Amino acid sequence: MKSYITNSKRETARLAERLAKKLKNHDIIFFKGGLGMGKTAFTQGLCRGLGIDRNVTSPTFAIVNEYSGSPLSLFHFDMYRIETEDQLYNIGFYDYMDYDGVLAIEWSENIIPFFSDANIVITFEKTGENQRKITIEGVDIY
Ligand SMILES: Nc1ncnc2c1ncn2[C@@H]1O[C@H](COP(=O)(O)OP(=O)(O)O)[C@@H](O)[C@H]1O
Ligand SMILES: [Mg+2]
Repeated sequence: MKSYITNSKRETARLAERLAKKLKNHDIIFFKGGLGMGKTAFTQGLCRGLGIDRNVTSPTFAIVNEYSGSPLSLFHFDMYRIETEDQLYNIGFYDYMDYDGVLAIEWSENIIPFFSDANIVITFEKTGENQRKITIEGVDIY
């Protein structure tokens, strides 16, 4: 487990870009931390690091946004509205674990009571207006 301080959205994305180089097929990333912490900015960096040249937006209404890449695709979830295991099942979440790629899950707090199988956990804390403390568990960047 290691923590990093970033001082801008761009620095957060760069940190994620470095992490992306370490990702493997079927990795499951839980993001923890509330609104405006930089989870979507981080996911933008993950995409770039995976060689996926797409504009990443919050999947709040769609619940999942899919960014296809080679060799790894990124499936970006927002669990803000998920409250039960049935709902998780009904959005097809369990099917995504069979696809080639990585799952990055915002509002993972909501599903942890019934699904906790992440192998990477990234926790965001606001330490200043433009500063975030980002703690990465489950993978070493260097
Ligand atoms: N160090 C930082 N890292 C990431 N975002 C930051 C940082 N400092 C300020 N911000 C701002 O915080 C907001 C983060 O938004 P977003 O990535 O959508 O957060 P979340 O997905 O966690 O709700 C953006 O408006 C961004 O400009
Ligand atoms: Mg977001």
